[in-house]
Amino acid sequence: MADVQLIGVHKAYGATAVVKGISLRIESGEFISLLGPSGCGKTTTLRMIAGLETLDAGTISIGGELVDSEKGHVPPEKRALGMVFQSYAVWPHKSVAENVAYPLLLQRKPSSEIAQRVTQALEWVRLGAFAQRMPSQLSGGQLQRVAIARALVANPRVLLLDEPLSNLDAALREELRGEIAALRARLGTTMIFVTHDQHEALALSDRVAVMHQGVIEQIDSPQKIYQSPSTPFVAGFVGGANRLEGRVEGRSFICGAHTFELPERVTAVDGPATLAVRAEELELGSTGPSLPLLARLFLGSATEFRFTLGESVLRVVGPARDVKPGESVRVALQHARLYPR
Ligand SMILES: Nc1ncnc2c1ncn2[C@@H]1O[C@H](COP(=O)(O)OP(=O)(O)OP(=O)(O)O)[C@@H](O)[C@H]1O
Ligand SMILES: [Mg+2]
Repeated sequence: MADVQLIGVHKAYGATAVVKGISLRIESGEFISLLGPSGCGKTTTLRMIAGLETLDAGTISIGGELVDSEKGHVPPEKRALGMVFQSYAVWPHKSVAENVAYPLLLQRKPSSEIAQRVTQALEWVRLGAFAQRMPSQLSGGQLQRVAIARALVANPRVLLLDEPLSNLDAALREELRGEIAALRARLGTTMIFVTHDQHEALALSDRVAVMHQGVIEQIDSPQKIYQSPSTPFVAGFVGGANRLEGRVEGRSFICGAHTFELPERVTAVDGPATLAVRAEELELGSTGPSLPLLARLFLGSATEFRFTLGESVLRVVGPARDVKPGESVRVALQHARLYPR
């Protein structure tokens, strides 16, 4: 296990900067997620840590050793890391055991040691009975577990995972998510997990780094990220908050032609602001502005109501109500976060 430190890391492709001065310290044994929308620079950041991309500026250290700086670039195979990709990247003509053994063969380990470590790694991912199978005889979830065993077999200092669950169906994704958590608890390896799925990031991580357009907007525990998003973007991306542009006047938030009363616990300063409110923090009832219902969606445990609010759509989730599209309903804030502009 090792810590990983990025200081002022920059990367551009041609004229386009995709990682813009990221600084990040991942403690030894920590599980950190890089969470953000498509194209925000998550894979590029992970590939720079792996040594698969060079940096334009900044430094990366692993276990206290500078692996990227103006002094030079340590190649991927000398970084002692494990990496798992979204596409399973399992060799089709090698058996499960041969796939997992490969990193140890490259290190010219004696065959008795290889056999023992392959058995152990397959047991970690609960594939002990599948050692002699060929990849074509495995499911997607099993293939990804082969890839995880292969990444772990050589005792990497850090395990890097790039959207490892994205190609799996919902049930398998949830199962493998639990297995990654269990493996992590058992092995204590430092893990960096890239995902655009907030649920995965919140469920698995010690800390989550939320990325947006090549920068980290917030890095905090999952609880803090969810409860106290530090920017409107984080509030919108994690927890799917509605974002309204308007201005605060006293205890009111004025958004176009509509005025919302601010709940007592929301601290407010007069002036232009963005208000972020989650769908379940809005309430349909007898107070608040009257808004026309656009659509009603049954979600099972609750119902989603979509209202027209000026140019945008306001999403509310709550108990079922007999209201039809076109009818108007009063919508009130129960909670919200204000970001002065
Ligand atoms: N080799 C490359 N050449 C040019 N542009 C690239 C290259 N690799 C990535 N990019 C661009 O850099 C930006 C960041 O890409 P990156 O793959 O890091 O995003 P990401 O956050 O992993 O997204 P996703 O969730 O879609 O995987 C994107 O706009 C992408 O098009
Ligand atoms: Mg990516």
